[in-house]
Amino acid sequence: MRVSIIGGGGLVGSSAAYALQCAGLVSEICLVDANPDAAEGHAQELTHGACLTGGMRTFVGTMQEAVASQVVVITAGLRRKPEESRLDLINRNVDLFLQILAQLRQAGLRETSYLVVVSNPVDVLTYLAVRESGLPWQRVIGLGTLLDTMRFRSLIARRIRVPADQVQALILGEHGDSMVPIWSGASVAGVPLDQWPGWDLQAQREVFEQTRQAGATLLRLKGGSGFAVGLAIREVVASLVGDRRRVLPVSTLQQGAYDVRDVCMSVPTIVGCGGVKEQVTIPLSAREVTGLRHSAQVLRDTLSQIQGRKLAAQPAPASQAVVAASGTTRDGQRSVARVVPRAAWQTPRAV
Ligand SMILES: NC(=O)c1ccc[n+]([C@@H]2O[C@H](COP(=O)([O-])OP(=O)(O)OC[C@H]3O[C@@H](n4cnc5c(N)ncnc54)[C@H](O)[C@@H]3O)[C@@H](O)[C@H]2O)c1
Repeated sequence: MRVSIIGGGGLVGSSAAYALQCAGLVSEICLVDANPDAAEGHAQELTHGACLTGGMRTFVGTMQEAVASQVVVITAGLRRKPEESRLDLINRNVDLFLQILAQLRQAGLRETSYLVVVSNPVDVLTYLAVRESGLPWQRVIGLGTLLDTMRFRSLIARRIRVPADQVQALILGEHGDSMVPIWSGASVAGVPLDQWPGWDLQAQREVFEQTRQAGATLLRLKGGSGFAVGLAIREVVASLVGDRRRVLPVSTLQQGAYDVRDVCMSVPTIVGCGGVKEQVTIPLSAREVTGLRHSAQVLRDTLSQIQGRKLAAQPAPASQAVVAASGTTRDGQRSVARVVPRAAWQTPRAV
């Protein structure tokens, strides 16, 4: 079983390849990168470790080889230039991402593959992948707030000095400034976090701030995140290919949970064979629900900015001008397939 990583020569892509290798989950990893030397270096080093990790084959490949994969992970991205605005960086990354999607489709991306979007802005790019990849929306999964959630759990655990795997807590919404900490459901080994001895509002404020700043802190200290995001990617891939039905805060096309539609962001999502099995509506406080709706609005605003500037110049082929969104709701009812003409989504709106 093959996983391909577009951007596999970079920090995130190579860390994901290493995490997958250590887990012994896949038999082949294909690294595709605009910098072939970096990809080749990582492929060679992973090959050196293969004798102790189940013999996984790693190689540098083409888009044609990438599309012959069960899972295609996209981690290719551009870094911010000095003086560059956030929106300019977003627009450059959108252009790059649309080019990669076009290359994948030209190479014959299969409807039975999964697309895992990691590059930032991840929620925006996941939305574009749903629209442009030709895959059913359930098979397009953005990493969303999974990494933020991992950081959050680990930082809470460090603060109260318990093992991180005994802390349950979630970050939902946007992978970005408007991310929403779900304090109402946070617990330690079954005990509500707000009843944990010594836990107070100051701890809450500090831990969330550390979580929100974690990406920027790593960028300053070591040039970006690698190990933890690699593990997050492994978690998604494992759930998909092993049909593990893990409940993960990943970014997917929203179908109405918390009244949010037509935007990709993270809610608790059951991930398994076929991709998204269910977007789960858990009880949240009124403040948390407001936070999620705010995240959705922030993402819609970004989409309207980039769609006006970029997508008009990149018309999708006629066959890709529609997206059929269908799925199964929590109460087991089949949700209605929607067909959205391309012209209708150039200005984002709730459908
Ligand atoms: N979603 C998350 O939780 C999360 C976490 C960390 C990083 N990221 C994002 O992941 C992306 C990668 O980060 P990184 O630290 O690995 O950056 P990086 O610069 O180390 O790697 C990016 C790689 O993409 C390659 N690339 C550029 N254009 C390409 C193309 N057209 N085709 C193939 N490869 C191409 C580059 O050569 C480079 O090797 C960034 O967008 C970053 O913001 C997301």
